Amino acid sequence: MISGSLIGDSTALFLTLLVAAFVYFRRNSTYWQRKNVEYLDLRSREHTGIFLKQVYNLMKKKNLKHGGIYMKLSPVYVIADLDYVKNIMTRDFQYFPHRGLYYNEESDPLSAHIFNLSGEKWKNLRTVLNPIFTPNRMKKIFPILMDCETVLRKKVELQVEKKKLINVKNTVEGFVLDVIACCAFGLDCEKLQSEDSTFKNFGKKIFTRSKSRRIKGILVENFPKLGQFLDVTLIPKDVSSFFMTLVKDTVSYRRETNTVKNDFIQVLIDQKKNLVEDDNCDATLSVEAIAAQCFIFYLAGFSTSPTLMTFVLYELAKHQQIQEKVRNEIETVLGNEEITFESIQDLVFLNQVVDETLRKYPPAAYLTRKCVKDFEIPDSEVVIEKGTTVQIPVLGIHYDEEIYPDPEKFDPGRFVEEKKRERHSCAHVPFGEGPRICIGMRFGLLQSKLGLTSLLRNYKFKVSERTKEPLKMIPSSLVLTPEGGIWLEAHKVETLV
Ligand code: HEM
Repeated sequence: MISGSLIGDSTALFLTLLVAAFVYFRRNSTYWQRKNVEYLDLRSREHTGIFLKQVYNLMKKKNLKHGGIYMKLSPVYVIADLDYVKNIMTRDFQYFPHRGLYYNEESDPLSAHIFNLSGEKWKNLRTVLNPIFTPNRMKKIFPILMDCETVLRKKVELQVEKKKLINVKNTVEGFVLDVIACCAFGLDCEKLQSEDSTFKNFGKKIFTRSKSRRIKGILVENFPKLGQFLDVTLIPKDVSSFFMTLVKDTVSYRRETNTVKNDFIQVLIDQKKNLVEDDNCDATLSVEAIAAQCFIFYLAGFSTSPTLMTFVLYELAKHQQIQEKVRNEIETVLGNEEITFESIQDLVFLNQVVDETLRKYPPAAYLTRKCVKDFEIPDSEVVIEKGTTVQIPVLGIHYDEEIYPDPEKFDPGRFVEEKKRERHSCAHVPFGEGPRICIGMRFGLLQSKLGLTSLLRNYKFKVSERTKEPLKMIPSSLVLTPEGGIWLEAHKVETLV
């Protein structure tokens, strides 16, 4: 106590906090004026990706290459120029090397994964993880994906037999969850179906955000140091201990029984062994670190690939001729044979359909970077200050009519090779760009194309009236998610497998 009176001290503390908050927010709210960057006074209750698209459009209208906004009362730098995007993501990466996300390695080891990490830790980990996603590794893992494809086919068959409408997102989420459970955590696809799946329950729990988790999220986003000081953790304890135990058990089992599989966790176990034999620092790959990486593969894969597959099926259900063209290509490439790793690579038109879908519905509708040292924008007097958050409005770029005329139109023809080459390399960034580009891109595309090939080979899809159109995205969702879901009718293609 300072004054000797509890009421007096509390009042003084309250007033000090109030003044500090006023000064903090006042300083923030005039930030862009002081930085010589045009301030765009926009607010929206839409999904952040859609809001940033509105900001992008306004900047284009005003002929601005960049601008400043406030998000949750903090100043945010937004880019509307593709060369600036390229520079920040690639050439000047050293100034913008991470996303500024919170993690707590000690109390919440699962949060110390490659998506969150920065600096040397991130760099080392990226080198260790790269071999997991090479084309060769994808080929090796393909048989595991095919086991999951069989399960997907059987599940849809049952629904179609009962003449049920297909809730597309739910259906493809089941497939992606099986794939990741098998590839990242080494589980068995068949067993996963028969058990009352604890994996699925915990897997889904991580995406439900309770009020307390949201409050903690806001706290650590705005005051990460305070978060560290208070030892805030964001992953629920039961989820964390479930995934940690799962990975520890798998690692011990494989060691003790000398079991070797072709999945991701095996690559991590082997890498750990190599690092130890090299006398290299073991800390990069402790069992906790392995668990954290498997966990992010799960989170990153589960939130993106189902979104891609859902919107592909939706657009194809709306454009029957394009759907027929995809099906014809599948028939020509596969004939009556099983799907193979190589045949997926030969589906050129399906690839265009996927690219166009990722343009219209990029699962990550914006990209974030944090500035780590003052950066002077070339040929301008603007200095982006250390600590500033940078947002790249992916959705805005993907709907820019100067780049993509008639942007609302679904036109896979935009992605033939010649047209792709004519565009700026940052005109299509569904997987990000630069050293932090999505590490799982090949895998995400492979599993999505496999699931789509399987479904389109066997079923014709039509939009059901149950789908609420025009689609409206849920504002609070992490990735673009339409309200009410996407419901399709599926009819068996008689002549095919
Ligand atoms: C269609 C599927 C996918 C899409 C659209 C997608 C998109 C993205 C995007 C936009 C980023 C941020 C890139 C940046 O900031 O520049 C990212 C990062 C990442 N993605 Fe993916 N992703 C997909 C699938 C996957 C899968 C299946 C995995 C893992 C199995 C994965 C693992 C990661 C990881 C670990 C990062 C962080 C990389 C780093 O910071 O070094 N993604 N992804």
